[in-house]
Amino acid sequence: MVFAANVTTPAPTDTTSTTTPAAPATAPVAQENTPLLPGDAQRGLEKSQTCVACHGTDGNSVIPNYPKIAGQHASYIIESLHEYREGPGSERDNPIMYGMTAGLSDQDILDLAAYYSEQKITIGEADPALFALGEKIYRGGNADVNVPACIACHGPRGEGNYAANFPALSGQNAAYIAEQLHAFRSGTRKGGVNDMMAHVVKRMSEEEIQAVASYVSGLH
Ligand code: HEC
Ligand code: HEC
Repeated sequence: MVFAANVTTPAPTDTTSTTTPAAPATAPVAQENTPLLPGDAQRGLEKSQTCVACHGTDGNSVIPNYPKIAGQHASYIIESLHEYREGPGSERDNPIMYGMTAGLSDQDILDLAAYYSEQKITIGEADPALFALGEKIYRGGNADVNVPACIACHGPRGEGNYAANFPALSGQNAAYIAEQLHAFRSGTRKGGVNDMMAHVVKRMSEEEIQAVASYVSGLH
């Protein structure tokens, strides 16, 4: 996870200067300025104990409106955890995950991302009654009202796109997917560069949202 180390290392701001004004130039660097190590899955496993109640033992949440995080791209997990940690007003303003991330260090986030990205997601089963419409939207969008095809960014098997930081959707819980699509539409969640996902969902009908969410839960 060498890439992961690069994404999240913000230029260290000089947080020590206010608290230790007299520190000589040779003083040992403060803890928060310690260079980050690449994410370590074993350390991530140890740190994941507080996540189990909601995301399952290996990141396969069995609670329908909580996301599975097993097998998700490390870069996307890192970004999400940083956004939650910023708290109220951030791109992902969520009280539960704010509470869960407030105490995490940047290194914890890298380790957790390394661990979860190496787990295998379990695949669900799409509702047969919604399959045809879900597949149509996922693969072809809805040209009549300018809904783009999901496949263009999330890939033919829902694998996402690591380089572009488009998340994997394959196997994700349908109720969680539908909930996120609503959040993008209402603006409570901001959807990536130029708010991409808001443009995607704004003309989708409720029926299309439910159908594509169900389709994705069985896609692999
Ligand atoms: C009390 C339940 C709970 C606990 C404990 C919890 N989470 Fe979450 N997690 C959630 C919920 C609910 C969401 C969806 C929030 C939203 O709508 O954005 C979420 C979302 C996430 C996401 C974003 C997933 C995606 O597909 O975008 C990641 C990553 C994540 N959690 C990681 C963790 C990690 C790592 C821990 C442990 C340090 C943890 N969570 C602990 C409930 C929990
Ligand atoms: C132009 C590229 C693009 C298209 C087309 C697109 N998406 Fe996305 N999608 C993204 C990006 C980027 C994100 C990550 C947003 C963020 O950073 O929060 C995302 C995130 C999501 C998420 C949140 C995943 C999670 O784990 O929380 C869902 C659900 C989703 N997209 C579903 C869809 C569906 C369904 C379609 C088709 C109707 C679609 N997307 C079309 C780019 C796209």
